[in-house]
Amino acid sequence: MLSPGKPLRDEIFAVISREEKRQTEEINLIASENYSSDDVRRATGSVLAHKYAEGYPAKRWYGGCRHVDEVEEIARDLVKRLFGAEHANVQPHCGASANLIVYSAFLKPGDKVLSLVLSQGGHLSHGSPANLSGKEYQFVHYPLERRSERVDYAEMERLAAEHQPKIVLAGYSAYPREVDWKRVAEIAHANNALAMADVAHTAGIIAAGHHQTPFPHMDIVTTTTHKSLRGPRGAVIMCREKFAKEIDHCTFPGFQGGPFMHEIAAKAVCFNEAHGAEFKAYQGRVLRNAKTLEEKWKGFGGRLCSGGTDCHFILLDVKSTYGITGQEGVDRLAKQNIAVNKNAIPYDTESIFKTSGLRIGTPFMTSRGWDETRFAELADRMHGILGAKG
Ligand SMILES: Cc1ncc(COP(=O)(O)O)c(C=O)c1O
Repeated sequence: MLSPGKPLRDEIFAVISREEKRQTEEINLIASENYSSDDVRRATGSVLAHKYAEGYPAKRWYGGCRHVDEVEEIARDLVKRLFGAEHANVQPHCGASANLIVYSAFLKPGDKVLSLVLSQGGHLSHGSPANLSGKEYQFVHYPLERRSERVDYAEMERLAAEHQPKIVLAGYSAYPREVDWKRVAEIAHANNALAMADVAHTAGIIAAGHHQTPFPHMDIVTTTTHKSLRGPRGAVIMCREKFAKEIDHCTFPGFQGGPFMHEIAAKAVCFNEAHGAEFKAYQGRVLRNAKTLEEKWKGFGGRLCSGGTDCHFILLDVKSTYGITGQEGVDRLAKQNIAVNKNAIPYDTESIFKTSGLRIGTPFMTSRGWDETRFAELADRMHGILGAKG
């Protein structure tokens, strides 16, 4: 708590030090978090934060933009090459805004979007009634196939034909399998809809070439930069050249004001890191560590949603494996300094406040140097904690 009279600066830096200690001592298995490089954080804390640069390189409202112009050009170029995109806008402040910018660019209020059932792995910006997306536009949701717990492309196709949405959206928050972009794009285009991918979670895996990039199949791709991509907080929208004008115009002046040039510089650092061999190797370790968790829980006789993982996390059904809720699992692990998040499982019968699942991710601890042996030992420990009586 703030002590009156003590310089606020000291208090804040003391709190930051405590958080830094927590991040190095606690075991962090939150699949959407990562530990960025010193260079990414150096750019984030740089003087570029002082600069107003409304507009785009060479088309700014204010003077003095020659250096930030260079930074934004570099960031755009690097991210386009990572994902094979024709155009990129690196200004969106976060993933939820990036998605809203895309909707505002191509939809009128009340227009339809087809996206995954939110409780089965979608994100709230994919049409939650509590989010502007769900208030402004009409979302129709496709379910996962009940038995395999995988995307039901046939049902997606049927719903697209029935509802004629303007956008078909794929890419999720809690779906542990690779998406068939070609199939999604075919379904969208057969119904004159735009094919939109939100790869916020798997961007790092895609950038490293371990998963297929959504291009050239999909028309528009949004991503955050701070999850598996291991960059600063922020987002990017990529698209075909023919949509570039709408995307840029709806980002600024449509949705945002001045871009965060320090974050854009940090994005450029992150994209450059993602082009390197070390990043590819890192993402390979992220995937192998997640496979280790899959194999361990299969060995324990546990139930994994969709039967396993192709990505950076597993979705463990703790209700059927241990007879506890996701919330109880989070609480038990927290007492042992292990951070995870509760997560609904497909067709969950528990409330979203309790849930039946845990999403257990590997990017953060892999960034901290953990290998398969450490993850295997951790799985043994977690199995003991989750399975303990009472
Ligand atoms: C698939 C997906 N899209 C968008 C977002 C939103 O990102 P942000 O928290 O940066 O708004 C998330 C965040 O978890 C996500 O998982």
